[in-house]
Amino acid sequence: MSKITNIFFSPSETTKKVLNQMASNFSKDYEICDLLYFDGEKEFSSDDIVLVGMPVFAGRIPKTARARLSKLTGDNTKAIAVVNYGNAHVTDALLELVDLLDENGFDVIAAASTISHHSIFDGVAVGRPDDSDIGKINEFAQKCIEKIAAGDSLETEIPGNRPYVDYKTLPFIVSCDESKCVFCLECIGVCPEKAIPDDDPADVDLDLCTRCTSCINICPENARAFTGEAFEAKKPAFESANAERKEPEFYL
Ligand SMILES: Cc1cc2nc3c(=O)[nH]c(=O)nc-3n(C[C@H](O)[C@H](O)[C@H](O)COP(=O)(O)O)c2cc1C
Repeated sequence: MSKITNIFFSPSETTKKVLNQMASNFSKDYEICDLLYFDGEKEFSSDDIVLVGMPVFAGRIPKTARARLSKLTGDNTKAIAVVNYGNAHVTDALLELVDLLDENGFDVIAAASTISHHSIFDGVAVGRPDDSDIGKINEFAQKCIEKIAAGDSLETEIPGNRPYVDYKTLPFIVSCDESKCVFCLECIGVCPEKAIPDDDPADVDLDLCTRCTSCINICPENARAFTGEAFEAKKPAFESANAERKEPEFYL
């Protein structure tokens, strides 16, 4: 039986949830390659199957995740590509992910865009993925299993444009409430950009920080948050513009 590996970059852990749900349809013994922590090389064989999940950051896959994923290579390895977004826009992220996997020796047989709770604007897509999403994700996984067994290729065009939109770092401040911080240093360990100094978790280097949310998500004291005028000004308009429910899309 093929080895299943679940590869994801998931700062606020919803992409991980979607991918683990998908993988559980293939096998209960799937392996995990968590690109928030893993930054090494890995080769996959033609017998392997990989599920690859990325969040959408400003219409792209996160730059750091892209660099880490680029170190993983396939040998015509069957792959399923998933981007997970916060009910706003996918833009070029799914096309970028499929292109990157193709370039690195993977054979993408299916792709999807799924929706999860927005990791910055917490009033958008609250509670997602929900039961309806999970049902659709399971159905998609079953179709992927059938497709792999039949040896079929990806037949549907993936939306998006080349060249992809330019990278954009959001102008929001990630702050730490020092009265709540207990110096557990979890944020320092999880930050993929090494933007938080070892001796002072409150001092985020905003030039290195990509606003990925991993430090906010991991903080056991809820001491970390987006703050600042730009964030407060954007929040209400963004939340009302993206209030209408979007549905996952599947490409087979
Ligand atoms: C820096 C940043 C940029 C984002 N850009 C987008 C976007 O362009 N479109 C969108 O719908 N959601 C966007 N989101 C929301 C995430 O894609 C969404 O919340 C996703 O579920 C996060 O995945 P994670 O929980 O695995 O980190 C962005 C989130 C972050 C942190």
